[in-house]
Amino acid sequence: MLKDKVAVIYGAGGGIGGAVARAFASEGAKLYLTGRTLAPVDAVAKDVASAGGSAEAAEVDAIDEQAVDKHLQSVIVKAGRVDISFNAVGIPNTKIVGLPLVELDVEQFSLPITAYTTSYFLTARLAARRMVANKSGVIMTVTALHSRIGLPLVGGYGPAQAAKEALTRDLSTELAPQGIRVVGLRPQGMPETRTIKEAYEPRAKASGMTWEQWQELLASRTHPRRLMTLKEMAHMAVFMASDKASGMTGTTVNLTMGSLDD
Ligand SMILES: NC(=O)c1ccc[n+]([C@@H]2O[C@H](COP(=O)([O-])OP(=O)(O)OC[C@H]3O[C@@H](n4cnc5c(N)ncnc54)[C@H](OP(=O)(O)O)[C@@H]3O)[C@@H](O)[C@H]2O)c1
Repeated sequence: MLKDKVAVIYGAGGGIGGAVARAFASEGAKLYLTGRTLAPVDAVAKDVASAGGSAEAAEVDAIDEQAVDKHLQSVIVKAGRVDISFNAVGIPNTKIVGLPLVELDVEQFSLPITAYTTSYFLTARLAARRMVANKSGVIMTVTALHSRIGLPLVGGYGPAQAAKEALTRDLSTELAPQGIRVVGLRPQGMPETRTIKEAYEPRAKASGMTWEQWQELLASRTHPRRLMTLKEMAHMAVFMASDKASGMTGTTVNLTMGSLDD
């Protein structure tokens, strides 16, 4: 589905970025994987290569404009174009969740809003400038159901996710006429990832539940009464990045398995 598509992934050493990288590679994409720390990105690239895929790893801080620009330019020099830009960066939750809003200071509240929106804006804008030349491309990101429902003890995380979804719509209105689609994924929590444990543990503790009971509660809110896997999320990412999703832009796909109504 992605044969010879050139894909850049930010936060590729993380749970979602790594799973999306493996799924993109298995569908034939040529990967340029990046992350703030090289070692985990390198591990994903080696994994992809040992499965017969094509991946190059680089250390890129996705909120550093010059670093993102320099890396994208190197991709253009090597591969000639960028077809897919996927921003999967995740700010460590331990710094931003667990406190009631009335106890948060401005800095702690603003941290996720600034970091997530700046990173998504920068990676999208810099990719779009290259994609315009080919009149084609797909810009993607990941959000969470916090964008659409009220949840306690999540600080600025909810507003950050809502802002990313708004940016997806706004970017699409400007870029779709130039052949560039902009789409997001909004998965339910995936228990295999460290993020979800970090995010939910303080809330589970606050309500006197164990981590296992908390997962069961979350699962009970989905229609199939289970939480989704990274593989399921990554399969949807492949479809959305592919030309088969050419009719989809300016939207965030609801992957909450019924937890959140449209
Ligand atoms: N996991 C889930 O179930 C789930 C569900 C819905 C939504 N989400 C959202 O999806 C996103 C990714 O989640 P995840 O579970 O994959 O998180 P993760 O495993 O923590 O991965 C995030 C990755 O982003 C990297 N990163 C952070 N800041 C960066 C920066 N400035 N530049 C480049 N890379 C940076 C991290 O690198 P370092 O480790 O070096 O910091 C890490 O490799 C988050 O926004 C999360 O809230 C997750």
